[in-house]
Amino acid sequence: MFPPKFAWGAATAAYQIEGGWDSDGKGPSIWDTFCHKGGGLVYEDHSGDVTCSSYVFWEEDLKCIQQLGLTHYRLSVSWSRLLPDGTTKHVNQKGVRYYNKVIDDLLASNVMPMVTLYHFDLPQALQDQGGWTSPEMADIFDSYACFCFQTFGDRVKLWITLNEPYVCAKLGHEDGIFAPGIKEPGIAAYLVGHNMLRAHARAWHSYHSMYRAKQGGAVSLALNSDWAEPVNPASPDDIAATERYLAFSLGWFAWPVFVTGDYPEVMRSRVELRSKELSCQDCRLPAFSKDEPSILGTADFFALNYYTSRRVKAVGGLPEGCGLKSDQDAEAVVDPTWPVCGVSWLAVVPDGLRKLLKYIKDTFNNPAVYITENGFSQVGPVVMDDVQRCGFYQDIIQEVAKAIQEDGVDVRGYFAWSLLDNFEWADGFRVRFGLFHVDFAQPEKTRTIYRSGREYAGIISKYQSQT
Ligand code: NOJ
Repeated sequence: MFPPKFAWGAATAAYQIEGGWDSDGKGPSIWDTFCHKGGGLVYEDHSGDVTCSSYVFWEEDLKCIQQLGLTHYRLSVSWSRLLPDGTTKHVNQKGVRYYNKVIDDLLASNVMPMVTLYHFDLPQALQDQGGWTSPEMADIFDSYACFCFQTFGDRVKLWITLNEPYVCAKLGHEDGIFAPGIKEPGIAAYLVGHNMLRAHARAWHSYHSMYRAKQGGAVSLALNSDWAEPVNPASPDDIAATERYLAFSLGWFAWPVFVTGDYPEVMRSRVELRSKELSCQDCRLPAFSKDEPSILGTADFFALNYYTSRRVKAVGGLPEGCGLKSDQDAEAVVDPTWPVCGVSWLAVVPDGLRKLLKYIKDTFNNPAVYITENGFSQVGPVVMDDVQRCGFYQDIIQEVAKAIQEDGVDVRGYFAWSLLDNFEWADGFRVRFGLFHVDFAQPEKTRTIYRSGREYAGIISKYQSQT
């Protein structure tokens, strides 16, 4: 049913689980700064200062991984734990030691690590120099990536350069609800997206020219996308709006990497149109320079984070101002028939994943796909007997099976988000995605498996025994 080497994984990210925010020489990241500002930027001013304390209790995480029977574990390394000021001038050996242990322990347990280099936590020192809006970031990120390939690449064979550049650009630089908290509709998000693509491409080229022959691994970037369908399937306006919605989210990054080396045509034309209408120099999509290494072809597989779906309609008449939202001129809504889990944005639509996988196959030339994140959240009182989430994992994994068998999509792996309840960014600890509950009130941060954790372990062992 699933291919023999199918990756059964779970995922986490450094800032969300490690804690130890200033332990052993770690430098501050933009999420440390953002959370420490207070003032309700994060739910009840929570922070990742301590969270699951995985920096201290890594061995407890390993037990959870073993208990689930995972074949793969996706983690991120904290840039500012390894390089406190973001540059290779100063290496924090204690950080190196920590990740060496994590990687070695995983391999000794027969679990393959997939390592993300950047999961939202830019070293503050680099933010102080302009962060992702600065063109210098491509070079700086490339040096950091090479440092990681050099240090861990003898053992790590699956790399994700950047996690969800869309979220970094939009939520961090247009909406201002994620670190670094910049609220600047206009060019900032486009600039950030642009520099992130350049940075990713540089790292991919470095890996391919300097490390791949010896290390034999693969590199990609993790792109988040909803599945989208028109509110009225008979309306050409809604159909066009749906295409724009996908172009301005998944297409923004996937088109340059997998199709043309440039942004989707509709994105370019819409932004230009807006810029003319508003006589606004700030509304523009940057151009890729011919003198830089190409963006096209810089992914060895397609890494997809899928959570939810949307129905889309044309707004009709351009909304005020410039920026991503108004440029795309499409309104995305949750279908009232879909159940919503925990948070309002998370409508539960398992078959949206199958449709999106088919779309990826058809649009991006049938790539190998890893689903690098997918999950179901819980809010309110803790429910250990989480039957709803059990059903969710059953349903969504069925959809993945259908995508492979009936639609011929080359899916290579599935990573549940998340191994543990953890710090859910602006939602703090209010929103829980874990297969294991974490008792944040106790110093030991005791991990206890949810019923859905047992369910997922059962699914893994069932399919593993069939191959
Ligand atoms: C995607 C992000 O990569 C992850 O950090 C986050 O916790 C999940 N979405 C759930 O919102």
